[in-house]
Amino acid sequence: MSKKIIKGSSTPFRGEITPPGDKSISHRSLILGSLANGHSVVKDFLISDDTLSTANAMRALGITIGINGTQVDITGKGLYGLSEPEKVIDCGNSGTTTRLLTGLLSAQTFTSILDGDKYLQARPMRRVVGPLSLMGAQIEGKEDGNKLPLTITGKKLKGIRYELPVASAQVKSAILLAGLYADGETEVIEPEPSRDHTERMLSYLGVAIQKNGNSIKINKTQEINPGEIIVPADISSAAFFIVAALITPGSEVLIKNVGISPLRTGIIDILQNMGGDIEIINQREVNKEPIGDILTRSSDLHGTEISGELIPKAIDELPIAAVAACFAEGETRIRDAKELRVKETDRIKAMATELGKLGARVLEFEDGMSIHGSRSLTGAVCSSWGDHRIAMSIAIAGTRAKGETQILDAECVSVSYPGFFKIIDELRQ
Ligand code: S3P
Repeated sequence: MSKKIIKGSSTPFRGEITPPGDKSISHRSLILGSLANGHSVVKDFLISDDTLSTANAMRALGITIGINGTQVDITGKGLYGLSEPEKVIDCGNSGTTTRLLTGLLSAQTFTSILDGDKYLQARPMRRVVGPLSLMGAQIEGKEDGNKLPLTITGKKLKGIRYELPVASAQVKSAILLAGLYADGETEVIEPEPSRDHTERMLSYLGVAIQKNGNSIKINKTQEINPGEIIVPADISSAAFFIVAALITPGSEVLIKNVGISPLRTGIIDILQNMGGDIEIINQREVNKEPIGDILTRSSDLHGTEISGELIPKAIDELPIAAVAACFAEGETRIRDAKELRVKETDRIKAMATELGKLGARVLEFEDGMSIHGSRSLTGAVCSSWGDHRIAMSIAIAGTRAKGETQILDAECVSVSYPGFFKIIDELRQ
């Protein structure tokens, strides 16, 4: 499936779907389940390349993990039960696996080496290596510790108070995981709040964690309880079909059981600001995570400004927000989003280039882009840049473009949403 062809059409998107489990929560369920004292069950787990990277990493650290359909059984060995991996741990394409494990492995009594694919090898790791080193970690890597492979020699750590320069749930989580082992108190202060699944899951599994404004504190911990974790459907995956429904006249799509933590629903705020008809119904909670069903109907969209606190709340959905902007009246500006340049690829350059090939009017800024909506795109041969969210965003744009859009290297969708292309066909019958 390296090349995917999408046929543009006016066929509406109609029906009901439940996207696969949340990627962030799935990663965390494996890591915290491995550190718990005893057997945890994870239901509706996301089976994808990224989460399997974490599963294989935890197996390499001596944990037994059984995967049966979307149920995962983890035999946790406690906080001090991990063992030295025999080989280099391959984190594949997954930044979350790499950064969270860098925190965890910094505090062990053995040495581990983390590596990944060429995209991950290009991503910055100093953002975790820096604060972990302040805690006493010993981490070596290419470019003076900034790039993979990283060699992590476990050390006795001490708690720190650390102000994050940029909102990042991965960096925050790496420090909190190290903080479980560090002497004294560890405090992380965020410039803007980022997704808090680590904090919610730690608390659900009985770990004392204090949140006060933008500060999160954790202390050295003796025990994590095992538990049953039900993974909500991933709002980042839902976002593609929310936008598909909004930009295709006559559409109505119900997306069920979606995780709607307020730190993840920035894309709903953005699309509602653009005039999108989106309702969240049937709100409830599973294992301290809010979930709900999202009902979307096609709408006349208009341009908007996307910046500030909205950015971390919608960071992974900005590529698909740019697609929505192509079908909105007037200009949409994305600012304060420089982080997009260090994701799986440079997502500002990737979206500006690929949407440009489809005939969109996009202007690139160092920290974002501006899009002049035209409501008309024309099919072209596009690249995924090896990035799952670019592939899926261009695919949704392609469903509304005139003629045919080819997406090269489309197999990368399996990083987060292996069944993605099938759902397009199912909803457009
Ligand atoms: C994630 C945090 C975000 C996000 C990534 C998943 C997580 O990255 O982009 O897809 O699970 O913690 P940053 O922490 O780099 O912002």
